[in-house]
Amino acid sequence: MSPSQIAGEHAPANEREINDFCKFDLVRDGAGRFRIHSSVYTDQQIFDRELKHVFGHSWIFVSHEDMIPLPGDYVTTNIGTQPVIVCRAADNRVHVLFNRCAHRGSVVCREERGHAEKFRCPYHGWVYGNDGQLIGVAQRSGYPDDFLAWDLKLEEVPRAESYRGLVFANLDPSAAPLLERISSVRRYIDLWCDRSPTGKVALPEGIHRYEFPGNWKLQAENGVDGYHGNYVHESFVDLLERSGEREADDTRKTRNTLGSHNFAKGLSHGDGVLERKDGMIGAFPYRSNSSYCTQLETSYGSERANDILMQRNIFIFPNLFLFESHIRVIHPVRPDKSYIDAYPTYLMGVDDQLNAERLSEHERFFGPSGFGAPDDIEVFVCAQTGASAIGNPWLEFSRGIHRESMNELGETIGHSTDETPQRSLYREWLRLMQVNGNSPKVAR
Ligand code: FES
Ligand SMILES: [Fe+2]
Repeated sequence: MSPSQIAGEHAPANEREINDFCKFDLVRDGAGRFRIHSSVYTDQQIFDRELKHVFGHSWIFVSHEDMIPLPGDYVTTNIGTQPVIVCRAADNRVHVLFNRCAHRGSVVCREERGHAEKFRCPYHGWVYGNDGQLIGVAQRSGYPDDFLAWDLKLEEVPRAESYRGLVFANLDPSAAPLLERISSVRRYIDLWCDRSPTGKVALPEGIHRYEFPGNWKLQAENGVDGYHGNYVHESFVDLLERSGEREADDTRKTRNTLGSHNFAKGLSHGDGVLERKDGMIGAFPYRSNSSYCTQLETSYGSERANDILMQRNIFIFPNLFLFESHIRVIHPVRPDKSYIDAYPTYLMGVDDQLNAERLSEHERFFGPSGFGAPDDIEVFVCAQTGASAIGNPWLEFSRGIHRESMNELGETIGHSTDETPQRSLYREWLRLMQVNGNSPKVAR
């Protein structure tokens, strides 16, 4: 299978097919309202099309360079549902290889992370170097002499590029360069990396992986949803009050106040940012650590340090979040099943104590027994269940559409409880879904 087939390219669709799909009614955007058809969470054809049109043509986060610092280091992950190995070869180059044996298709690497000079397929023992080349075949005499000229190898994903340690890959060989793609979100990636006074983050811990019985976009929407916190995370707000850390009323009012620094931003390419000066629920209180703040000011100056210290959830379409202290990747499995990889991060160049406290705060809210992430999962299940109900299929994403504006950077700015980032996400989603192909047939 060629990379272009893997990426879901077809012969160019004829004009009629494209027009049919463009007319297909999944996103209603106009006249002061923005609505999504519930089938985007439930329909198998739409899901299959997402894998081809969204995940098959987008830059997808596959690893962080800090996870594979040495030649031989590797991690495994998925691009959409495509299994890949991300490994550093002897020449120090990072390769992103399809985790698919050239013999009969088994994955050749079953580990999540490790170090190996070669990968041995578990099925019949073919061996590949960490540059993907086939270097050994069991019982070789069963093949003709010219066998090694058959160009059998672990195929390379067509494109792989990195930015500030974040490694992305793209199944589309003709995709625009990564830097072009991240043009508007890049300044937020920089601010996130510059939480470290050295500008570098480390990922020394494992991955926290968990699945949920819901569509991947429920998590994509939720990570920049500033509306739900007072309700879904009500018990955590109350807990903060009981422990004397914060007045619950203050938390709720801060989050709802117009005019203070509470923004939800829609960027180009489907990206989005939730930004609050006074912190998210469950975020580490950086501003109260004076020696850390001084470190930042020394490295970057006080104006940029102040910007760095804003609390942000950064969404990079279609499935990557840079949160306070972790990287989160959403993996689609089925229309109603997804899994999350959360990679806790450490800041380089700060006290060990600060990193320990960040990790502890992260675990308290996002960890397996945390007070935040499990509640989010619960509402994803609620939303997935409700999406299958008959009746009016249209879901409202119109919050704040009447009060958003555009800033000098071309970002659409709403209040932090507005659905501005979600509208940005779905506009890009629809754009990609409408390129080349037949319309999905959805039960109405
Ligand atoms: S499938 Fe890999 S060696 Fe047979
Ligand atoms: Fe939440």
